[in-house]
Amino acid sequence: MRQVRTLGLLGTGVIGGGWAARALHFGIDVVAADLKPEMQEWIRGAIANAEGALARLTLAPLPPKGKLSFTTDLHAMARQADFIQENIPEQLELKQRVLADVSHHAPADVVIASSTSGLMPSDLQRGMVAPQRFLVAHPFNPVYLLPLVELVGGQRTSAAALDAASSFFTYIGMHALRVRREVPGHLTDRLQEALWREILHMVNEDVATTGELDDSIVYGPGLRWAAMGTNLIYHLAGGEPGMRHMLRQFGPCLKWPWTKLEAPELTEALIDKMVAGTQAQAAGRSIRELERLRDDYLVAIQQVLKPYNIGAGATLRALEERLYEAAAAGARERITDAGQPLRLVETYVRPEWIDYNGHMTDSRYLQVFGDATDALFRYAGVDDAYRRSGRALYTVETHVSHQAEARALEPLYVTTRVLEVDDKRVRLFHSLHRRRDEALVATAEQLYLHVNTPPGKASPMDAAVRARLADLQAAHRRGHAQDR
Ligand SMILES: NC(=O)c1ccc[n+]([C@@H]2O[C@H](COP(=O)([O-])OP(=O)(O)OC[C@H]3O[C@@H](n4cnc5c(N)ncnc54)[C@H](O)[C@@H]3O)[C@@H](O)[C@H]2O)c1
Repeated sequence: MRQVRTLGLLGTGVIGGGWAARALHFGIDVVAADLKPEMQEWIRGAIANAEGALARLTLAPLPPKGKLSFTTDLHAMARQADFIQENIPEQLELKQRVLADVSHHAPADVVIASSTSGLMPSDLQRGMVAPQRFLVAHPFNPVYLLPLVELVGGQRTSAAALDAASSFFTYIGMHALRVRREVPGHLTDRLQEALWREILHMVNEDVATTGELDDSIVYGPGLRWAAMGTNLIYHLAGGEPGMRHMLRQFGPCLKWPWTKLEAPELTEALIDKMVAGTQAQAAGRSIRELERLRDDYLVAIQQVLKPYNIGAGATLRALEERLYEAAAAGARERITDAGQPLRLVETYVRPEWIDYNGHMTDSRYLQVFGDATDALFRYAGVDDAYRRSGRALYTVETHVSHQAEARALEPLYVTTRVLEVDDKRVRLFHSLHRRRDEALVATAEQLYLHVNTPPGKASPMDAAVRARLADLQAAHRRGHAQDR
C-alpha cells in the first residue's frame, strides 16, 4: 500500500469537510470531489471554520499545511489520490455504485475507505475492482477534533489494507479502533443508538424533556466517559471485588429490564417534542455558535487528559511525540556541518500566531525557540524515552531580543549554537531569521538545568548526552572563531 501524500475525498459534506480540515492541518494534500460544484465554496468554508480549534489543539511543530483542490470529476480524483475516503449519503445502492465506479480509476494499491455509519463492508465492496483494499473507516463529527475512527474489514478486505489505514489515521492524529468483525452500526453507533432509543421512549412518554435527559448524562456519566468507558467505570463501582461484584449486585435488573429494545414509533407528536426540546436547550444560539462552543471544549478536554496519558489525551500525546520527532529528524538531516550553527527549525508565521498589529505575537517566539531546543536535545539523546526514565532539561532562564518584524505567512528558520555545557547545565543561543531576505528577526539565549524529575532536583546528565552537547559546543566555538 502507498505512503499517503494526497487524500482523495468522495463527497464533501459535513464529514468530507471534517476529513479535509484534519488532513490538511497535518500536511496532507486533499483532492475533494463532489457532484455539486457549489460544494467547493462550502468545503473551503468548513475548513476555515475548523481552523481556529485545530490551531489550538497542539503547540507541537507542524509541517506546512496541505494543499486543497476541488473537482466534480470523481475519476480525476481517483487517479490522483494515494488514499480515498468516501463520504456520500448513507444509501447502500448509491455507495455500491459509486465505489465500484471509482475503483476502476484508482490503482489497486490505493486504499478506499467508507465513512458509513452502519453499512457492512462486505456489502459495499461487492462490485469493486481490487476489493481487498476496501474497508470501513467510520469517523465521528467533528472529524477534525475527535480522534476515534472505527476500522472494519469485510469478507474480502486484506490485512495490509487495514494496517495501511491504521497507520495513515494514526499519522493524522486519530485513534484507529479495529472492529473484530462486521456488524450493522459497528460498535459506537450501536451503543449510541441504544441510548438514543431510550431517550425517544422517555420523551414520548413525557418522563423527561430532552434537556433533562442531556443533564442526566452531562453532569454525571459524561464526565466519566471522557477517559474511562462504561466497563472500567463499572469495575470501579463494584468496590474491591470489581466487576464480579457489580454484576452480582446489578445483574438482576438487566433481566427486568429497565430498558426497551425497540424504538418507539416516530410520530409527528414525538418529533415535535424532540425539536421543541432541543430548541429550548439551544436558547437562541445558532448552530455555528454551538459548534464553536463544542469545538473549544473538545480541545480543552483533550489537553486536560494529556498529562494522564489516557483516552484521547494519550492519542494527542502520541501525535505530539510524532510531530516533535519528525521536526527533529528534519533537523538532523540539515545538520551537515556541525561547525556551523544548527539549522533546526523551518517554519512560517501561521495566521493564528499574529497579534493585533499583524506581527508574530510574543508567545510564539518562545514556541519557535522551544521547538529548536527540542530538536537539539533530541539530537543529543534527550527524547521521550529519556524523559520517561525520570530525567529532563528544565528551562531556567530566557532572554529574547527582537530585531525585525515577521508578518503572517512569512517563512522563517532558526539556527542554534551551544554556548556552554557542564554536568548539569546547557546554555543555548538561537537566531530566528526571515527566509526571504535572511534578516535577523530575533535572538534568544536560554539556560537549561538538568533535573531528576521525580524529586525535582538538579542532577548530572547522562554522559553520552553531555558528550554530544560538548562536541557541538566545541565545534560551534571553532566555527564562531573562524567567522570573526
Ligand atoms: N454526519 C455525521 O455525523 C456522520 C458521522 C459519521 C459518519 N457519517 C457518514 O458519512 C457519510 C456522509 O455523511 P454526511 O453527513 O457528510 O452527508 P452530507 O449530506 O453532508 O454530504 C454528502 C455529500 O455527498 C455528495 N454526493 C452525493 N452523491 C454523490 C456522488 N454520487 N458522488 C459524489 N458526491 C456525492 C453530496 O453532494 C454531499 O455533498 C454517510 O455515510 C454518513 O453515514 C456521518
